[in-house]
Amino acid sequence: MERLRLGINIDHVATLRNARGGSHPDPLRAARLIRQAGGDLVTVHLREDRRHITDRDVERIKAEIDLPLNLELAATGEMYAIARRVRPQDCCIVPERREERTTERGLDVVRQEESLRAFVGGLREAGIRVALFVDPDPAQLEAAARVGAPCVELHTGTYAEAEGAERDAELARLARAARLCRELGLECHAGHGLTYDNVGPVAALPEVVELNIGHFLIGEALFRGFVEAVAEMRRLMDEARGR
Ligand code: PXP
Repeated sequence: MERLRLGINIDHVATLRNARGGSHPDPLRAARLIRQAGGDLVTVHLREDRRHITDRDVERIKAEIDLPLNLELAATGEMYAIARRVRPQDCCIVPERREERTTERGLDVVRQEESLRAFVGGLREAGIRVALFVDPDPAQLEAAARVGAPCVELHTGTYAEAEGAERDAELARLARAARLCRELGLECHAGHGLTYDNVGPVAALPEVVELNIGHFLIGEALFRGFVEAVAEMRRLMDEARGR
């Protein structure tokens, strides 16, 4: 099977830095290690409240890191302007609520078709590859195709939190959604809540070509070191792909 791309979300290196308000640990230092660890993309979420990654982090990563940047952002005018100026290789559009701890669910593309069509169109015009972060729901995937997004990222959070039969059902839902992506001509990515224990079955879905993983790896890096933590994820993904 085709090698899966691995985007490493380094938001929580910035969370740790911001806890003390200084410059250590520097997310750029993590970004510099991604390639050697087996990752392919630097993924960051520039949140409206800047609780972790800042505008300066985004600028520095774009200027100094020789890997594609995947910028996650909400569909707001402010983020649109930033994306058009920074021109990352990829943008993943996510829903955002200030009070949430993390991105709890996928984007409701069905209810925002008009505005998302313009947003996606404008980013594509700037040469950015756009993904919509959606739950594995056929109606949302069909709407993503209608608004002209070339890619979707399937939200794996519900799968990651489920156990036993419920987890099997969520995996089946992800598998059906990944197949529908292929039928609709959407490139299929996945992410959220992935760990060493649950990544295998998602990595084995043949239609999925990219995973974005953050929180677990940054936590694991405290114990194993960043490179080793990422390299183990790479190994598990390759194993699941039969490589
Ligand atoms: N993909 C998207 C679109 C996200 O918003 C996030 C969380 O910021 C992730 C992937 C990574 O999730 P996690 O940190 O749980 O691995």
